[in-house]
Amino acid sequence: MKQVTYKGLTFVPYLENEKIQQRIKELAAQITSDCKGKRPLFLCVLNGAFPFAADLFRAVQLPDAEISFIRLKSYEGTGSTGVVKEVLGMSDDIEGRTVIVIEDIVDTGNTIANLVERLKSKNPADVKIATLLFKPESLQTDVKPDYVGFDIPSDFIIGFGLDLDGLARNLPDIWVLSEEHDN
Ligand code: IMP
Ligand code: MG
Repeated sequence: MKQVTYKGLTFVPYLENEKIQQRIKELAAQITSDCKGKRPLFLCVLNGAFPFAADLFRAVQLPDAEISFIRLKSYEGTGSTGVVKEVLGMSDDIEGRTVIVIEDIVDTGNTIANLVERLKSKNPADVKIATLLFKPESLQTDVKPDYVGFDIPSDFIIGFGLDLDGLARNLPDIWVLSEEHDN
């Protein structure tokens, strides 16, 4: 069985890059059709969303689309701390604009709920959420993503931007923490 190991934890294959790319194309087509004639601002949530944002933004066919970046942090190791820190703030004027937040994953939903609240106070026309992955069983808030790549169970995953303490973001595929242990 193929596997990768980080910090003594073993991960097994979960989603291949080809499948991820195929799904991103579908999401981009949907966003393109929903935002026809609009001037949406895509907001990539760093660090994890950068590969998804790069692929999604290039696949969207909207001549007036723009992208900006914000950095948030809520995870330590394999669990959420529940506290969302804005490490790199946003300077864009979003008043009257459609903002499409790009996330790697919505887990408890705390990060996204917190961000959406902050964005709404700046009077945008609309705030939409696009996430590559969604763990519906972990959701603790009433914020629902508008565009979801894949619904997944509440397992810990890495790769394609997702990390274990900063590692594994560069893996092209997504891998899941193995339930088998050696001891
Ligand atoms: P939430 O606030 O609980 O929804 O968590 C969102 C953030 O936690 C994501 O943007 C990720 O950075 C991180 N996260 C959640 N689940 C995972 C996972 O399975 N692997 C790696 N990071 C995760
Ligand atoms: Mg993240």
